[in-house]
Amino acid sequence: MTEARFTQRPAIVTGAARGIGRAIAIRLASEGAPSLLVDRDATGLAETADKCRGEGTAIETLVADLQDRAAPRRIADAARTAHGAIAVLVNNAGVEFRGNFTAHDDAAWDRVIDINLSAAFRLVRELTDDLAATRGAIVNLASVAVVGFAGQAAYDASKGGLATLTRSLAVEMGPMGVRANSVAPGFVDTEMLKEAPDLAAVAERLVATLPIARTGRVEEVAAAVAWLASERASYVTGHTLFVDGGWMRR
Ligand SMILES: NC(=O)c1ccc[n+]([C@@H]2O[C@H](COP(=O)([O-])OP(=O)(O)OC[C@H]3O[C@@H](n4cnc5c(N)ncnc54)[C@H](O)[C@@H]3O)[C@@H](O)[C@H]2O)c1
Repeated sequence: MTEARFTQRPAIVTGAARGIGRAIAIRLASEGAPSLLVDRDATGLAETADKCRGEGTAIETLVADLQDRAAPRRIADAARTAHGAIAVLVNNAGVEFRGNFTAHDDAAWDRVIDINLSAAFRLVRELTDDLAATRGAIVNLASVAVVGFAGQAAYDASKGGLATLTRSLAVEMGPMGVRANSVAPGFVDTEMLKEAPDLAAVAERLVATLPIARTGRVEEVAAAVAWLASERASYVTGHTLFVDGGWMRR
């Protein structure tokens, strides 16, 4: 275990079955966080939990679909039962829809907005009292997509909305002692990229033009999340931290 910054700072990580969410779960566990890991993928979630338990902290899992409006309450209840009042909430679960603006039917639009944005809002609403009681921290996974790209209107809107929601939360919850920040990754090497072949091709071309000319690693995103969630970032709120190899400075 690295330095135990999250002992008695229980955490929830959504989308923890793979990719960035798994790396965040492992990082927080390695720093001592008792955690509730959430995903709709039971198999991947169990694998992540095994890796986290190797770090010696108390880990529970909950299989839930964040598009289900009842999921945030189930998650909050399960987290309280397992670990008491939650101090760290990481809204990481996210989905993409690739297609032109006109190719987004209502189901595609609703799914992306529900999972990437509305579920985060509902989870924070469920956990406000816990986060205030623990003087906790929220970290939301936005994206460089906040700038707006072709071929992913719902995704970009969801991430822009999430970054702005984060700033609203920071202002409203600051007086409660709660900090809220977002991390905006650039291209990170995960299944999400591999499942969208057109995007993977764009990524390959684009990363060559970055100041740090490679894709990001999941551990690099997890390190930023862990920092923002910890007391090391005690005077940082309402911020969007780009972990993007310099994408925004090109
Ligand atoms: N990979 C990148 O390049 C990149 C870049 C910018 C932002 N992000 C963001 O980072 C986050 C993690 O991305 P990733 O690349 O690890 O993605 P990923 O697709 O590899 O993993 C996402 C996880 O979320 C879970 N999930 C999706 N929908 C769910 C639902 N309805 N209910 C419960 N769980 C659900 C999936 O099962 C999966 O385990 C996402 O919010 C993504 O938008 C990723």
